[in-house]
Amino acid sequence: MKNIRCKDYETLSKKVANSIIKQITLKPNSVLGLATGSTPIGTYQALIEAYQKGKVDFSQVTVFNLDEYYPISKDNPQSYHHFMMQHFFQHININKDNCYIPNGQAKNIEKECRLYDEAIKQSGGIDLQLLGIGTNGHIGFNEPGRLLHMNTHLTSLKASTIEDNARFFDKIDSVPTKAITMGIGSIMKAKKILLLVSGQKKADIYKKLFEKQLSTDIPVSLLQLHLDVTVMVDQEAYSSEVISDTIVG
Ligand code: PGA
Repeated sequence: MKNIRCKDYETLSKKVANSIIKQITLKPNSVLGLATGSTPIGTYQALIEAYQKGKVDFSQVTVFNLDEYYPISKDNPQSYHHFMMQHFFQHININKDNCYIPNGQAKNIEKECRLYDEAIKQSGGIDLQLLGIGTNGHIGFNEPGRLLHMNTHLTSLKASTIEDNARFFDKIDSVPTKAITMGIGSIMKAKKILLLVSGQKKADIYKKLFEKQLSTDIPVSLLQLHLDVTVMVDQEAYSSEVISDTIVG
């Protein structure tokens, strides 16, 4: 894993945006795997600014988002559909028909998950996957546990995730307890992965990522098996205890 330390969140966001712009410049019809949460917001802002300056064209890009709460409607302000429109899609020239997010209202969940995986396959697979990281080590909503899933599936959120996400809701009881998420297999099939780690509260899980052990209790640890992962970490989350080659960005 390549480990790039950035002096602050803004620098990290700009660097991640530049990597995405480079990807789209080299392959205008790139397939991006995108994430929600607070961490990628700065990246989306930097991408919107680049688009407004004519530095990137999203017209041929396809997006697959990692996850969506269940059950939730697309127009619910807490949905990830709403999040992506508000923070990214509505500001750029992406074809909304090429923006895939699991349907939080699917009646037949098994079918929804199967079709989601098929759509990823049909697109040629994800070229670049953006990931945040949960304080409990989840990626997407692949929560710590004895078993991890390969493919898109419905999952129950851990109490730690519900607590972490409560800040976006009026009260903790309003946080959905389930979600549809891409599986670990779908994430691992991405050709490149950019893992964003920002803020003091991610310092502990960042350290664990470099302990060179694999555990389903720390889903993010499986990324060590992927051949092209770049960890972008800001100074607040960085730990000098991590023994890894670090590039200062
Ligand atoms: P955050 O969430 O960016 O809001 O910290 C990351 C995640 O849970 O994957």
